[in-house]
Amino acid sequence: MKTVTFRRVALRHMTDEHTEMTPEHRLPEGAAAVRLRTALQDAVGSKDPAVGRLRHSRTTVCFVVGDEEVSLLLDRSPPAVGGNDEPAEIDIELTDEQALRFADGDLSLVEALIRGEVTATGPVRRYMEVDPILRRLLAGGSGAAAHARLAANHGDQAGHSEPVPVDRLAIETRGLHKSFGSAHILQGCDLQIPEGVISVILGPSGTGKSVMLQHIIGLLAPDAGEVLIRGNQLSQMSRSEILGLRREIGVMFQDGALFSTMDVYDNVAFPLRQHTNLSERQIRRVVLARLSDVGLRGASNRMPGELSGGMRKRAGLARSLVLEPGIILCDEPDSGLDPVRTSLLGDLLVEQHAAHGGTMIVVTHNVPLARQIADHMNILWQGKVLESGLASEVFASQSAFVRQFLASDTIGPLTMDA
Ligand SMILES: Nc1ncnc2c1ncn2[C@@H]1O[C@H](COP(=O)(O)OP(=O)(O)OP(=O)(O)O)[C@@H](O)[C@H]1O
Ligand SMILES: [Mg+2]
Repeated sequence: MKTVTFRRVALRHMTDEHTEMTPEHRLPEGAAAVRLRTALQDAVGSKDPAVGRLRHSRTTVCFVVGDEEVSLLLDRSPPAVGGNDEPAEIDIELTDEQALRFADGDLSLVEALIRGEVTATGPVRRYMEVDPILRRLLAGGSGAAAHARLAANHGDQAGHSEPVPVDRLAIETRGLHKSFGSAHILQGCDLQIPEGVISVILGPSGTGKSVMLQHIIGLLAPDAGEVLIRGNQLSQMSRSEILGLRREIGVMFQDGALFSTMDVYDNVAFPLRQHTNLSERQIRRVVLARLSDVGLRGASNRMPGELSGGMRKRAGLARSLVLEPGIILCDEPDSGLDPVRTSLLGDLLVEQHAAHGGTMIVVTHNVPLARQIADHMNILWQGKVLESGLASEVFASQSAFVRQFLASDTIGPLTMDA
């Protein structure tokens, strides 16, 4: 039997000039395993800032390729969002072909896991947070390009996925009902948001998308049904747990929701001053880095009233990212933007997801944006989730409503008042 052990490559060593390997290390015989190992070494040995984010995951991932093992220890303290603080040990079994595609940053293991194509054991949720970052690094630092390739791959992989296993859901709602007076807005909503991917909640105006988001962050309580965040029932959480949860969920509101009396810098610094004990110097580093990410470093002293709509949204995105949340909710990030700015914002969301990992939920009625960014989709209509699945599958749906909505057709079940 061919065996190779590439174990416990501590990131702290890899980020120095060389890689430290254990003495038992022997060269693998399988080409796919060698490629994967080299690619991983290059990726986590790079000077890319995203490597820093990996350090927080404290996750050991053992890729089993054929009979060979390629392990990766991503070290350091875990993020607050990761749930339990124990280091995670994850085994992921890949075929040779999958290993090669992963080494190129082409294969989203998260999707493959959701489809049931890859066998995995261990706390896979932790891995899912790491996956987009690793993939971005493997793709040579170009998250958007990797995503574009992934999107291109969607086409030939259409098929129906199994429901997402519960332990891989970041957010779930079960039978959610909500009425305002006589208006029954949510009518038994079963939403499933898998961990680690960009999920789009797509639906017409006024269907209850924002109402749904407010339930997820605990701003509204359901009349019936449950909201589960990483398996925990929101209704069972204490006030302090809900406050803690808000720290772990970054929200980019529909209008940016910046404080009008603070400049951009203070707006973005606000969550850090509120929720952390960082010094002003440390805060400055984080704020300027996030502002650079969204192209607003030069506008840090401007007041919200002096920004364009697109700049306000980007500032809102920078603010939602500063606490490195495991879950980011973006409510209509595209509203009020022209198609080009919307598309640029879409790229920015994909890049930020690739750099930081975690679960990103984007609520919109913009079909081109959904096509551009979605890994996974939930279609909301008349208070229910009509379709849920990988983006490629939902886009191929034969449902009359989905077909009409995706094609912007005036003929179909959706009318001005239905
Ligand atoms: N606090 C509230 N009180 C009363 N009605 C409300 C409240 N919040 C929302 N609604 C109603 O619930 C319905 C759904 O609103 P919601 O804002 O969730 O729509 P949406 O899907 O986000 O639409 P859009 O795409 O236009 O943002 C609307 O009819 C709205 O008037
Ligand atoms: Mg809305």
